[in-house]
Amino acid sequence: MSAFGHSLARLLKSGDVITLEGGLGAGKSTLARGLISRILEDAGLASDDIPSPTFTLVQPYPWPDDTDAGREIWHFDLWRLDGPDEVIELGFDEALSRHAMIIEWPDRLAGLLPAEALQIEIEPIDDGAARVLSIKGGEAAGWPERLASLAL
Ligand SMILES: Nc1ncnc2c1ncn2[C@@H]1O[C@H](COP(=O)(O)OP(=O)(O)OP(=O)(O)O)[C@@H](O)[C@H]1O
Ligand SMILES: [Mg+2]
Repeated sequence: MSAFGHSLARLLKSGDVITLEGGLGAGKSTLARGLISRILEDAGLASDDIPSPTFTLVQPYPWPDDTDAGREIWHFDLWRLDGPDEVIELGFDEALSRHAMIIEWPDRLAGLLPAEALQIEIEPIDDGAARVLSIKGGEAAGWPERLASLAL
């Protein structure tokens, strides 16, 4: 899950939205941490402290490309939220217009889920020894071509 996050980081552009679905312990935070750590390393920043935003709900990180001044990547964990109103209070609209986002428990977004999001569903199999990923991403954000170039 972590290695897959590293690979995905290579594809990420500044406005992207990635959603991670899967039950408790599926590996969502592990994937998110892998992706963010690679982005921070590319920016020459320390990547050993990437907390799961279970309690803070959202955690922003700097975006490496300095031609995109002020851009960040925001890691959301929406598990504790009840619905879209509370997501808006977290600054979701601002993030959407400006930052990349990786979002755990995207079902809380309901109608706020952007159509161009890359949607990843994680399913543990073999008593948790392995994971199956189902990945869906539309043409508008160029996901089919980008995923085809994914180095696994
Ligand atoms: N591909 C994998 N194979 C086996 N174990 C894995 C895999 N990916 C993650 N794990 C392990 O599964 C456990 C749970 O992972 P993680 O915390 O990322 O899940 P989560 O989906 O964020 O769960 P939660 O919703 O409870 O926060 C961790 O111990 C992690 O090391
Ligand atoms: Mg988690």
